[in-house]
Amino acid sequence: MKSKNLILILCLVFITSGGLLSQEFQYVGSAKCKICHNKPATGQQFKVWSESLHANAMKSLSNEKSLAYAKEHNIADPTKDPSCLKCHSTAGSVKESLQAGITIAEGVSCESCHGPGSAYKTNTIMKDEALALKNGMIKPDQKVCEKCHNKDNPFFKPFNFAEASKKIAHPNPMVKK
Ligand code: HEC
Ligand code: HEC
Ligand code: HEC
Ligand code: HEC
Repeated sequence: MKSKNLILILCLVFITSGGLLSQEFQYVGSAKCKICHNKPATGQQFKVWSESLHANAMKSLSNEKSLAYAKEHNIADPTKDPSCLKCHSTAGSVKESLQAGITIAEGVSCESCHGPGSAYKTNTIMKDEALALKNGMIKPDQKVCEKCHNKDNPFFKPFNFAEASKKIAHPNPMVKK
């Protein structure tokens, strides 16, 4: 009986520690990705992103539309309110212990779509897709977009995944698909 309980406890410890480990990937911020992903020959993903609405999503939270909405709904400051940050800022939507270099100001950052990069961002891991996926990288699909492109957004517009993906595309021309 005693040894049975011990096995049960060991199993539980194993399962919960595994669960904790898989959550330890941290958000390093887009400046880290820029080091390798800003060369014209491989698609300069950082530049494309930095000129997109995603990178500028925090700016919208202080425009007239936001301020009018905030006034109507008793929100003191949309740029600090969790109900807006949860979709307009990657850093603003994850707990502090997972923020390792990422800033609120960078808005909807690489890691909202590709997963927290602390473990996969090394060259050796990045070059091996299976290894990158194991280390927290995500290949974004429609579900990833719909974490934010949904009706909780006070200014929701119908979301068409195929069209929206084209608008934000940043392919690497050296990679054969
Ligand atoms: C040390 C260099 C380096 C850093 C830093 C780096 N990458 Fe990469 N990454 C690469 C290389 C090399 C590849 C493989 C060639 C390619 O697809 O561009 C790659 C591939 C990728 C891919 C395509 C993976 C696939 O198999 O489809 C994504 C997505 C990606 N990186 C995102 C990121 C993000 C997000 C960050 C920051 C958190 C980052 N990378 C940081 C070097 C790097
Ligand atoms: C973390 C939340 C979040 C995720 C995940 C996300 N988006 Fe967005 N997206 C936003 C926000 C916020 C805006 C509006 C930015 C602004 O204008 O302030 C936006 C804007 C856009 C726009 C510009 C809309 C326009 O009218 O031009 C496109 C296109 C878009 N997203 C596509 C995508 C696609 C495709 C995905 C998934 C691969 C995705 N988004 C994932 C939050 C997100
Ligand atoms: C569920 C995610 C989500 C939440 C929560 C959210 N937003 Fe957004 N917001 C978006 C997305 C996605 C867009 C891009 C519009 C689109 O294409 O649907 C956007 C666009 C906007 C725009 C530009 C709209 C336009 O038509 O020009 C403003 C301004 C804005 N949001 C303000 C806010 C404010 C203020 C809050 C908090 C009260 C907030 N948002 C909360 C996801 C969200
Ligand atoms: C709104 C979501 C979103 C954001 C933000 C975003 N990406 Fe992507 N990224 C995608 C999607 C969708 C693809 C296409 C996925 C595929 O081909 O499997 C992609 C593809 C890539 C690829 C692979 C290109 C190829 O052709 O192999 C790289 C590298 C990459 N992204 C890097 C970045 C970096 C670096 C940033 C930030 C500077 C970033 N992405 C920001 C959604 C995003």
